[in-house]
Amino acid sequence: MKIKLNNLTIVTSSGLFKKNLLIEKGIIKQVSDKPIYAKFVDVAIDDKDLLVFPGFFDMHVHLREPGFEYREDIESGMKAAVNGGITGIACMANTNPVNDNAVITHFIKCRAEQTELPVSVYPVAAITKGLKGEQIVEMGDLKNAGAVAFSDDGSAVENSEILRRALEYAKSFDMPIICHSEEKSLSKDGQVNEGIISIKLGLKGIPRESEIIGIFRDITLAKLTKSRVHIAHVSTEEGVDLIRKAKRAGIYVTCETCPHYFHLTEEEVLGYNTFAKVNPPLRTYKDVLAIREGLRDGTIDVIASDHAPHHIDEKDIEFEKANFGMIGLETLLPLTLELVRQGVIDFKDLAEKLSRKPRQILGINPPVIKEGEEANLTIVDPNYKWVLTKESICSKSFNTPFLGKTMKGKAIYIIKGGQFFEINK
Ligand code: DOR
Repeated sequence: MKIKLNNLTIVTSSGLFKKNLLIEKGIIKQVSDKPIYAKFVDVAIDDKDLLVFPGFFDMHVHLREPGFEYREDIESGMKAAVNGGITGIACMANTNPVNDNAVITHFIKCRAEQTELPVSVYPVAAITKGLKGEQIVEMGDLKNAGAVAFSDDGSAVENSEILRRALEYAKSFDMPIICHSEEKSLSKDGQVNEGIISIKLGLKGIPRESEIIGIFRDITLAKLTKSRVHIAHVSTEEGVDLIRKAKRAGIYVTCETCPHYFHLTEEEVLGYNTFAKVNPPLRTYKDVLAIREGLRDGTIDVIASDHAPHHIDEKDIEFEKANFGMIGLETLLPLTLELVRQGVIDFKDLAEKLSRKPRQILGINPPVIKEGEEANLTIVDPNYKWVLTKESICSKSFNTPFLGKTMKGKAIYIIKGGQFFEINK
């Protein structure tokens, strides 16, 4: 397949470039200042309003297979990723059985390859067997099977001694540990952020201190072990501050946040809106501003979705019984583009946080837009307006508080692995 892209703007972590590209059999053959005149091409795109990014990557996705295929399976999750313009995902271990052994990791990789969709799937293995926080997994086996990191996401490792040993063990394989930082004795049975909204709704609150103490503990152990710690879904002002200070002190810590933490506040749950029930919970306006500042000044390295599909029967019930989580693969890009339009980050930062940095943290080679390199590209129409509806969603689930909202910006093509993929508008 031969593809020519003329007059598009290339956006990478290092800048914006007006270039023209020729791609042949999946390889970038030409990067030129002048338009490509090649005849007999299979695809020709000439559009000055489109942006070409190195394929996007979402490092925090729950694919639910094996075990919870009624919420999502590997194929439907990958379709959701394609619909969001995402060419690489890391999937969390809280499946059933848990991804705590090489057989499950291998299974996930094989299932993903069978789909032939233009998405690379990288399993994140559990830190402890069965996510029970007791026995550390066989990290070497899991790395050999294709795991790229370890995480008990969804439930923090409570015992600091076990986490310390896990960090030391992971370090010997040069693998990061992704921490779901939560002091569970404080958050137990909590439903929403503790404060005025939890009081109004009569729901047990999750105090911000649960995350703050969790992050403090996890950074402290990163310092002690000199291991690589990545803090998942940061939601509080103090959490961002702790990470900022740790980075300044030379501790090897990275972190991510999710679009709901920089666009929504705890007020979203008013009316007992279970689609906005997420862990960590949506916080206050002051936290939203602090998360934005963390993104702006580079404290927050990555934007990930924490795509957490749940069946409507697990959401359309009493608030206290509803599961935590919202889907996000298909809104990650437009909600991040919104930050660019609001002047919080620029396009370069978007490429860094949605493409290069997550891969770097996980030890995956980021796609490079250079002659001779394999093409792994997402082409975006930044001005395209669309409405998020059940029908527009490729995920099996539709639990998102953004349902019915107008989005601006959409990925319209993916070029990867020799394939040209047109995404339905
Ligand atoms: O809201 C959440 N849902 N937070 C998590 O940490 C886990 C996730 C899930 O698996 O549903």
